[in-house]
Amino acid sequence: MPVLEVRGVSKRYGKNLVVDDVSFIIEEGETYGLLGPNGAGKSTTIGMIIGILQRDAGTIRIDGAEHSVTNSRTKALIGFAPQEIAVYKDLSARDNLRFFARLYGLSGARARAKADEVLEMVGLSDHAGEAVSTFSGGMARRVNIGLSLLNDPKLLILDEPTVGVDPQSRNSILESVQALTRGGLSVLYTTHYMEEAERLCDRVGIIESGRLRAEGTQRELVAQVGEDDTVLVTLGGPADKALDRLRALDRVSEVSADGTRIRLLTEDARGVLPSVLRTLTEEDMDIRSVEVQEPDLEAVFLRLTGKGLRE
Ligand SMILES: Nc1ncnc2c1ncn2[C@@H]1O[C@H](COP(=O)(O)OP(=O)(O)OP(=O)(O)O)[C@@H](O)[C@H]1O
Ligand SMILES: [Mg+2]
Repeated sequence: MPVLEVRGVSKRYGKNLVVDDVSFIIEEGETYGLLGPNGAGKSTTIGMIIGILQRDAGTIRIDGAEHSVTNSRTKALIGFAPQEIAVYKDLSARDNLRFFARLYGLSGARARAKADEVLEMVGLSDHAGEAVSTFSGGMARRVNIGLSLLNDPKLLILDEPTVGVDPQSRNSILESVQALTRGGLSVLYTTHYMEEAERLCDRVGIIESGRLRAEGTQRELVAQVGEDDTVLVTLGGPADKALDRLRALDRVSEVSADGTRIRLLTEDARGVLPSVLRTLTEEDMDIRSVEVQEPDLEAVFLRLTGKGLRE
């Protein structure tokens, strides 16, 4: 039985359908990534899953049971770390955790023990007594994640936990998540960093403009769009002129243009690059930049949506 089952969930704000018929499941012990750019609908989807937002359509099941804001059994299975850090800055990391553990109904002694256990899990034992106001963004994030672990969740939901975090803390957050999943926790992880999705997630759903465009393992997603490399050339002027000649080149399977940018698919980017550049030079085109992408999630995203993840 999946830990989370989201079926046909939609959310509308006025005229805007910001989550449009989204369905996916997370199996026990699985880490599922929701990968999409700003405004794609990730946080709104999560809001409906944790029950702070009313959905306009669809069903959500947790551990097989119909989930709603009033179902305390299913709610108790979820741990949630919001995108915005929600901790008391003047309190120490340990006191934040103890305070929230007491709110969850743990007795004083159990709250203290739980706080220490969680501090260990997020790698903050050495800074337990320090006020969060003295922490780096990444350390504060880890306190935020710690809070979501206090109720021993079965499903951990992390909404962009590495935004605004220094590289060292990012690494430490990713390692903590990996350690938690090794312990059997199921995780829903949103991000717009494809490297994180590639590193952490067993399966990835690509979300854009409220729609789940594709999902699968990284290998499956790459296979869906083909194994070709992508060559992106940005020009100083319109790209149309050279397209037919580029299409005629050996080993080039597809050429398209978007304003001043040419996108070319090929089984062998290194091999065709010299003739691509030669052709553009012969056509007197002003080459501003050239980028080669091997098939990865970024390339999948680009193929599916015509946009980069971070444009
Ligand atoms: N309360 C609201 N009222 C109206 N529109 C909203 C509201 N909350 C979100 N939206 C819109 O819904 C869309 C999806 O927003 P959402 O916050 O879910 O995106 P996201 O994928 O989490 O983005 P980010 O990566 O920036 O966090 C956006 O276009 C946003 O402007
Ligand atoms: Mg968000």
